[in-house]
Amino acid sequence: MSDRFEQFIAEVTSAVSGSNDESVVLPQVRAAMARLVAKDDWLPADKAQADPQRYQQNLLHCDAGGRFSVVCFVWGPGQQTPIHDHLMWGVIGMLRGAEICIPYRLVDGKPERHGDEIHIRPGDVGAVSPTIGDIHQVRNALPDRPSISIHCYGGDIGKVERHSFTAGSRTAERFVSGYSNVAS
Ligand code: FE2
Repeated sequence: MSDRFEQFIAEVTSAVSGSNDESVVLPQVRAAMARLVAKDDWLPADKAQADPQRYQQNLLHCDAGGRFSVVCFVWGPGQQTPIHDHLMWGVIGMLRGAEICIPYRLVDGKPERHGDEIHIRPGDVGAVSPTIGDIHQVRNALPDRPSISIHCYGGDIGKVERHSFTAGSRTAERFVSGYSNVAS
């Protein structure tokens, strides 16, 4: 992939090699992500294709030691996630189009909205983790074209069992997301 992406991988590798402390690693990954999504000139076209059936989660890189993974989300018009958690840190950078993120928290076992909708535009960077807030719902903000965001997680996110939630319900569904471009 491009020099810009290779530089990002080098910076995140350095960050996770230097510390296991999320409060140390996250600012470094956020800064690296801001540089990565500052310019939309590096993502290969085959990773940027929307699917009319389902939003795409294309694996771009997984650390050999499983310490982090990088995933490209491609949203078709109208596509959205369920309310879900991650169970690890994640840094999100908007590359193309726009997203709307709704933060949630569990109250008495039920997901409740926690704060305002966040409108995410190209170049914006956000983060999630069990420490800083791990539950949200995300959708494409554009009704007529795809949007693309780049996600870097503190583990092999596609292989981890985590949870989706339904508003008003205490029942959490377990799921493993996998990757759209990797056979499971
Ligand atoms: Fe998420």
